[in-house]
Amino acid sequence: MARIIIVSNRLPITLDRKDGGLIYHPSAGGLATGLSSLDESLDKIWLGWPGHYLDPGYEREYVEHQFEKDGLSPIFLSPHEVRFFYEGFSNNTIWPLFHYFPEFIEYNESYWKVYQEVNQKFADRICELIQEDDIVWVHDYQLMLVPGMVRKAKPQATIGFFLHIPFPSYEIFRTLPWREEILRGILGADLVGFHTFGYMRHFLSSVYRLTGKDQNFGKVTMDSNRTVNVDVFPMGINYEKYAIGAPSDEPSAEVQFIQDYGKRRKIVLSIDRLDYSKGIPQRIEAFGKFLEKNSKYHGEVTLILVVVPSRSNVGQYIKLKDRIDKAVGRINGRFGTFNWIPVRYYYRSFPFESLSAMYKSSFIAMITPVRDGMNLVAKEFVASRDDSKTGVLILSEMAGAAEELFEALLINPNNTNDMVEALETAIEMPPEEQAKRLSDMQLRLKEYGIKKWASNFIDLLMETKTFQHDRRTKLLSEESLDLLTQSYKKASKRLLLLDYDGTLVNFQNEPSEAKPDQALYDDLDKLIKQKGTKVVIISGRDKHTLGEWFGGRGIELVSEHGVWWWKNGGWKLNERVSDDWKSEIRPILENLVARTPGSFIEEKDFTLAWHYRRIDKELGAKRVREIRDGLIYLTANHNLQVLEGNKVVEIRNAGVNKGKSAAAWVHKREWDFMLAIGDDHTDEDTFKAMPADAYTIKVGLARTHARFKVLGTEDARGLIAKLANL
Ligand code: UDP
Ligand code: G6P
Repeated sequence: MARIIIVSNRLPITLDRKDGGLIYHPSAGGLATGLSSLDESLDKIWLGWPGHYLDPGYEREYVEHQFEKDGLSPIFLSPHEVRFFYEGFSNNTIWPLFHYFPEFIEYNESYWKVYQEVNQKFADRICELIQEDDIVWVHDYQLMLVPGMVRKAKPQATIGFFLHIPFPSYEIFRTLPWREEILRGILGADLVGFHTFGYMRHFLSSVYRLTGKDQNFGKVTMDSNRTVNVDVFPMGINYEKYAIGAPSDEPSAEVQFIQDYGKRRKIVLSIDRLDYSKGIPQRIEAFGKFLEKNSKYHGEVTLILVVVPSRSNVGQYIKLKDRIDKAVGRINGRFGTFNWIPVRYYYRSFPFESLSAMYKSSFIAMITPVRDGMNLVAKEFVASRDDSKTGVLILSEMAGAAEELFEALLINPNNTNDMVEALETAIEMPPEEQAKRLSDMQLRLKEYGIKKWASNFIDLLMETKTFQHDRRTKLLSEESLDLLTQSYKKASKRLLLLDYDGTLVNFQNEPSEAKPDQALYDDLDKLIKQKGTKVVIISGRDKHTLGEWFGGRGIELVSEHGVWWWKNGGWKLNERVSDDWKSEIRPILENLVARTPGSFIEEKDFTLAWHYRRIDKELGAKRVREIRDGLIYLTANHNLQVLEGNKVVEIRNAGVNKGKSAAAWVHKREWDFMLAIGDDHTDEDTFKAMPADAYTIKVGLARTHARFKVLGTEDARGLIAKLANL
């Protein structure tokens, strides 16, 4: 069974030393908490840093053994590596750069050198472990060179990369001295994932500007004809875990206090790692302004401010801690009374049961980062209100999560008045409105949880791999062409099924301009004059045009994918419709809606339509392509058509397809040579209807069921001419 090798800088368990002994605790941060909830059934190994250095020897071996039991493989970093790679390049260069804090960036050659060395260390460990069929999934900004390094050592490896933080605009990214190396590192992967389309767009634009490689529907073709697929996967949470919460039989004193406190006061909850990207001082300031403006809420509303210690050796984090301490002190000193502390401030992490109690007992969650890749806390709060359907989320529009949680009160974290107003609106929000907003968000979070996030990524990674394999291996070689012509010559009953547009002629802007040329007529005439050769043009074209161009020349014709057949000098109708395919297609479209916030499904009698007028144009185009690619096989089985309209894709019963028409021709006679050639997804139906030993040829490099590919219409015409002149 294929294993997944998960690679992240931080393991989900952190090792520490306390009073001389070793202790283990869960790691903080969205990456670790999110990935810890992955499907248990996956066979996975997780490589990463345990957060604490141990010298080689007995103690380290013991720890390795303990970790191994949980499928974790620790990579120890020396204090020097921690300083230069983790605190240095990762958190003093990349983190501020990617979160738009240029004033905090340190450009330092020594950081960069050690960043490369540590990335190589991770890559080497992967290469030691990897077996055939394994999938390598590398995570986040600390390891951006790893995909390229593994690709170099293992060219055939299946590698995915996911960035958990924003990818900045080109204007910011270009300031990095090692920008090209970083891009090439990421492009070592087969599939690159981002939380939002904005990050994906920035990445592709940097790739284009810095490497000259353009993209086509999110796919970047590399020199060696390898394709890297780039897509959006908004990370979800383990919804049930937060909806249900911790077991309530024996609540801790802390949990009891929180629950009790929530009944006495309206809690505004704020939970983050200590980070300048989270906008914590701005939030405290807004809360202070809110109290200043609204004395009626004094004694009634409390801000619970949880700040989880993080990167405590990095200068900017030390300064930030100081700033927060002072801001809290100012507000409590000014507004506090003997029986009310306006800001209850905790600089530590909490166990799940306490976190869950806070989520369930608070009235408002105020999550206002100035930049955040995703922000899972916002999603966890919404899920935790599954039972009560009360509570309000105030969310920064700068968090990736805002793209999915648009029923939250969205604010600009740099606008204090905006935040104050949101607090006022939230406190006064009618219960029905709270319930409505929460239910809409909950529905989405439930549908697209962490397991679906991971399986979507892995499925697309496997698909990308197959696609690459196909691209490389199927081009019609000289040798295969020789075999084809020899068997054509030997045969006495030959069937040629030819697509028209994109196969025998190139596309034109105006379809009516793609007329057959004289050379084509000559070759087709020669073919039908050969004894035993039957030439059939199977086209999506309307019957009038096809009849006008080819009727009465002795060529068999099938138009509109098989709706009409040319018989005895005229057209005959073939019509069958049903809707039993809908139950299979609907879940695919629902999944698409979950991954593409803002889109929706419309159902008609014989049609399912996916509308995307509210989403970004480019993401829409990519999704349309996905529908087309993803439904090719189902459409073949059920005789469906996928039709593109204006910001809508319709899937409807055609009752017919090229495959059926091809099959009818295949079974008409005992052919001893069969060839089908075509360029688009409708011709895939034809290829599938052909026996395994038939020559099936795809025009173009796209993924195909055909046995062979040729590059373009010139090659296809060359082949036809060659057969015509045998
Ligand atoms: N969290 C935690 N312990 C705490 C506070 C928070 O484990 O005491 C978790 C929280 O539940 C969430 C994660 O830390 O899953 C924070 O992830 P988020 O995406 O919000 O931000 P990040 O830290 O990744 O920037
Ligand atoms: C963010 C990053 C993660 C990181 C986490 C905690 O979520 O995307 O890669 O692990 O913060 O930060 P730390 O530096 O403690 O690992």
